[in-house]
Parts: sequence; C-alpha cells; structure tokens
Amino acid sequence: MRLDVFTLFPDAFAWFAQQVHVARAAELGVDLRLWDYRSFTPLRHGQVDDAPYGGGAGMVLRIDVVCAALEAAFRCDPARVADTRRVVELTPRGRQFDDALARELAAGDLCVLCGRYEGIDERVSQLVTDRVSIGPYVLAGGEIAAQVLLDAVVRKIDGAVSNPDSVAGDSFSPGLGGSLEYPQYTRPAEFRGWAVPAVLLSGDHAAVERWRRERLDGRERSGQG
Ligand code: ADE
Repeated sequence: MRLDVFTLFPDAFAWFAQQVHVARAAELGVDLRLWDYRSFTPLRHGQVDDAPYGGGAGMVLRIDVVCAALEAAFRCDPARVADTRRVVELTPRGRQFDDALARELAAGDLCVLCGRYEGIDERVSQLVTDRVSIGPYVLAGGEIAAQVLLDAVVRKIDGAVSNPDSVAGDSFSPGLGGSLEYPQYTRPAEFRGWAVPAVLLSGDHAAVERWRRERLDGRERSGQG
C-alpha cells in the first residue's frame, strides 16, 4: 500500500512517521512518501502560491504547482492519479472525517493533498476523489489535518496495531455499533479518595461486561449547556 502526502512542510510529518503503529505499518509494506510541492514547482524562486483572482486576503496554492508535483510523483497525467487510488484534499470545506471514511481509505493506495494559506485553487476538484475536513474550524494548513486522517487510517490497516481487539473495540467503530468506548481505569485503585468503581475490582466478568455495556456512549456534555 502506498501513502503519498503532498505538502509544503514534509518535516511536519517526522514525528508522525515514528509512531509505533505507523512504523509497524511500514514494516508490513506500507510505503509513506512525502512530497514537497516546492521541489517540483515549474515557477521561479520556488514560488508555489499566488494572489486570489477577484482580490481578497491571503494567497492560494497554484494548481499548476500541484499538478507538477503529482506528475513527478506518479509519472502520469495528474488527472489520472485518481484512477488508481483515493486522492484526498484536506480542506475545511470538505466532508467531515469519521471512522467509516478511515476504514474506506485504508482499503487501498491513498494520496493526500495538504493545502496552506487560503487553500488550493478550486480546480484541484479535477484531481481529487474526496474533499475532507477534520472538523468545523479552520487550521493554518492541512498538515495537522492530514496527520489526524492518516493516524486513523493507519490504525485500520491489518497488523498496524498489535492487538486487533483494540481497533475492533475503538469508539465509533462497527464493533461498538458506532458508540463511544466505556471508561477505563488502572492502578492505583484509590487515589486522593477517588476510587475505581468496585465492580471492576470484583473479578466478576459478567458484572464487568454489564457495567461496561451500560456505559457505552457515555458522551460528555459539551460547553456551558
Ligand atoms: N485545512 C484547514 N482547516 C482544515 C480542516 N478543518 N480540515 C481539513 N483541512 C483543513
């Protein structure tokens, strides 16, 4: 499986690439490749962006620069890259990322395009299969969003996480019917008077199961509400 990431900041992925599940996926043959748009720009002085037509704040990543990088990486017409893999643009305007999409994206080769500045020229829509947002807020660029997406995708690759039960029982997964996982505790059994629920110390597996089932989807209430 190939994971190709296009970015202006490949160094931003160094920590991510060292994470245990990512390193394990690499051992299993997952090939994470980082491509710097700037290395392939056909423009002078490493230029990659330009002012938006119609005016307005900020700069826009140029479509010719994105195409040049895709062409160099895949040695084909950039518009054809999506014939062989999912091509994802990270953008706050995209469909919201979730567990089901992570599972889908883990099924084959994947190419991820990170935006920066005010985003990528809208004609990138000619190149991508998916436009994905990690949430309804705006980040300075797609690098953190790409790592969020890739972290979740790599977890879904068979063997990347050493204990498959831990992925099967992830919050939001089909294994939990889309629910949140139950709360977890570990030693010490009591700290500052904060006690672990007695049932978890009881050794009564059926009672523990019941207790956990009752606590699936124990969503936190948000904000001041
Ligand atoms: N780039 C900037 N903000 C983003 C977001 N919320 N999701 C994905 N990519 C982004």
